[in-house]
Amino acid sequence: MKYPFHIERTETSRLGTVNFKDLAFGKLYGDHMFVAECKKGRWTDCKITPYGNLYFSPASSALHYGQIIFEGMKAYKDPDGNPQLFRPEQNHKRFNASAARMGMSEIPQELWLDALHELISLDQEWIPEEEGCSLYVRPFMFATDRFIGIRPTEFFKFIIITSPAGFYYAKPVKVIASDHYVRAFQGGVGFAKAAGNYGATMLPLKEAQQQGFDQVLWTDGLEHKYAQEIGTMNVFFMIDGVAVTPELDGTILDGITRDSVIQLLHSYGTPVEVRRISLDEIADAHKKGLFTEAFGTGTAASIAPISHVGYKGAVMQLPPASAWEYSTRLKHDLEAIKTSRLPDPFGWVAKVKSKLVPEEAPIM
Ligand SMILES: Cc1ncc(COP(=O)(O)O)c(C=O)c1O
Repeated sequence: MKYPFHIERTETSRLGTVNFKDLAFGKLYGDHMFVAECKKGRWTDCKITPYGNLYFSPASSALHYGQIIFEGMKAYKDPDGNPQLFRPEQNHKRFNASAARMGMSEIPQELWLDALHELISLDQEWIPEEEGCSLYVRPFMFATDRFIGIRPTEFFKFIIITSPAGFYYAKPVKVIASDHYVRAFQGGVGFAKAAGNYGATMLPLKEAQQQGFDQVLWTDGLEHKYAQEIGTMNVFFMIDGVAVTPELDGTILDGITRDSVIQLLHSYGTPVEVRRISLDEIADAHKKGLFTEAFGTGTAASIAPISHVGYKGAVMQLPPASAWEYSTRLKHDLEAIKTSRLPDPFGWVAKVKSKLVPEEAPIM
């Protein structure tokens, strides 16, 4: 290993306390976590330790100026019970793109992959096998420079925690197009998975929920005319048999599920258009009966069908589940590929392999 690290195993696993038949999202955490430090561009102090509280200075730069980035990915088991990840090198690429935009140190791919493989090998019994469930994996990094002045930072903590997870959305999602708040502008950080992008959306989300919606459908910051993405997902609109999804213009996340869905749709022979799409075009198609389906795509939520789109004080209602042609098929196929219940012609699945943990001795 180019970045050697040691493993300190927990003496008291919490695994026995988990009810895998009744998992929510984001409430429980695996037995272990990975931690590494970056000091002036040099990665050191890599270790896997029991999951627990962190110790750092209250003057840490990230707490004051928000240099925090993260990723979201999932681990699954194949039908023989072997752990696997979905496109982990894509998350690495995006993590480094986020790091570069936020002026933070990038992570070498070898360190990223070794950390993931070792942590998930060790905590593989935490991967739920129930349908629709998985082990959510959350890598994140923040600036730890002890300095309350604004200047480029040089010290970072990189951590990975895991969380056994059930469904993110139990029901089809109701979204409302934003006509006041803005999530991202060109030239900003919309394409990065930067914590501040999410912090700034809490108030709009709260207001959307007070109006009976689940999520905000973000629109462009200049005119509130064009769809961008949903709070935690990219978005697809099925219009007259064509799947339309907003282009990557620097304001939205380059979703790994989005890219996988585009490839799956191509494999079905479904036309896909990656372009700007206005809410007026969507409303017009709805009036003509051509807007037949919409769904969000994301790691946490997988494929989330949309039932209602609020726009300019009116609400477009979409056909019921029995009419969903694409979201049902995409969700089935994507989940089946991720768990190796369907072949993986795209080469997306990465089997988890440990260089350190003996195969026959997972933590029980
Ligand atoms: C704002 C936003 N857009 C899109 C996505 C979907 O990205 P992915 O499919 O890589 O999870 C996410 C989730 O990570 C997100 O937070």
